[in-house]
Amino acid sequence: MADLSVRVGSLSLRNPVMPASGCFAVEYSEALDFSRLGALVIKSVSPKSRSGNPTPRVAEVRGGMLNSIGIPSKGLAAYLQQVLPAYLGFGTPVVVSLSADTVAEFAAAVQVLSRPGVAAIEANISCPNLEADGMAFAMQARSTHDAISAMRRSTTLPLWAKLTPNAGDVAAIARAAEAAGADAIVMGNTALGMAIDVRTRRPLLGNGMGGLSGPALKPIALRMTYQCARAVRIPVIGCGGIATAEDAVEFMLAGATAVQVGTASFLDPGVMHRITDGLQAYCEAHGVERAADLVGAVQMDGPDQQAWRDQLARMAPAA
Ligand SMILES: Cc1cc2nc3c(=O)[nH]c(=O)nc-3n(C[C@H](O)[C@H](O)[C@H](O)COP(=O)(O)O)c2cc1C
Repeated sequence: MADLSVRVGSLSLRNPVMPASGCFAVEYSEALDFSRLGALVIKSVSPKSRSGNPTPRVAEVRGGMLNSIGIPSKGLAAYLQQVLPAYLGFGTPVVVSLSADTVAEFAAAVQVLSRPGVAAIEANISCPNLEADGMAFAMQARSTHDAISAMRRSTTLPLWAKLTPNAGDVAAIARAAEAAGADAIVMGNTALGMAIDVRTRRPLLGNGMGGLSGPALKPIALRMTYQCARAVRIPVIGCGGIATAEDAVEFMLAGATAVQVGTASFLDPGVMHRITDGLQAYCEAHGVERAADLVGAVQMDGPDQQAWRDQLARMAPAA
C-alpha cells in the first residue's frame, strides 16, 4: 500500500484530501467517515455577528457555480460553543477558518480561536479589507503581509493563508504571506464572476457578482498553485475545481502538498473518499511509494521561472 500521509508544516495528515471551507458541514458525517479525511476545515467564522449577503446567494453556471453567501455569523462566542465542538473527537485535525474586516479584528480573533483541539487556523484573507475600500486583503502583498504578521504575533498554532485567484501577481502575494510567518498557502478561493438572466435582465445573484467555483475554475487554480509552489518554501494546499483523483494528482504534481475539495461535494457528498481511494490506486499503478513524492514532480520542459515572470508582467501591465 502506498503511504498517503503528508506533512503540512508541523502538522501530519493521514492523507492529503480535506474539505474546502464553506462546502462541508458536520452533517456530512452521515455520508463520510471523518476519520478517513486528511483534515476537517470548517466554514469561515467572522468575529462580528452578521446575516450574510442578499438572496439569491447561489446560481448554477456552465462548468460550476457562483455564490455570494458572504460569511453569515453569530460571532465567535456562539461559534466556540455551538459550531467547533461538533468537529472535535473524530481523531482528525480540525482547521478553523477565519474571516475579518480589519487587521486588528483578524489578530484578536486568532487569539480567541487558539484553543485546545484546533490544529490550525486558515486565514481567509480573500475577504474584503474594510480599511482599504473593501478590496480583499490578498489582492495586494502589503495588506497580505499586514494581516498575516498581525495574526502570526497572536498565535503559535499553524497559520494557513488562503489566497484569492483574483490577484494578478499571486507569487508576490504568496511570498508576502510566507515572509509574514504563514505556515502554508491555500490556493485558493473562488474567482469573481457574474451571470445575468436574459429574461428579467437581472443578475442571477442578489449581490450582482459572486465567486465562481467548480470545474471551470480548475485550470486557473492549478496554474496559480504551480506559481505559488515555485515562489515559496512553505507547503501549498491546492483548491479549485477538484472533483476526481486525477485532479488531485495534477495539483500535487503542480506542487500542492494537499488538496481541498469544495463544490464537488455538493454533487456527491462521498467524493472525498473516492478521491483518496483513487489517489491510492494511482500511486500503486504508477509505482509511487509515497504520495508526498508526487509533490512538485511535474515535468516542465517549457518555461522556467523567469519566463513565467516575463509572461506575468505582459499579462498585468504596470499601473
Ligand atoms: C457555497 C460556498 C461557500 C463558501 N464559503 C467559504 C468560506 O466560508 N470561507 C472560505 O474561505 N471559502 C469559502 N468558499 C470557497 C471554497 O472554500 C473554495 O475555495 C472554492 O469554492 C474553490 O473550490 P471548489 O472549486 O472545489 O469549490 C465557499 C465556496 C462555496 C461554493
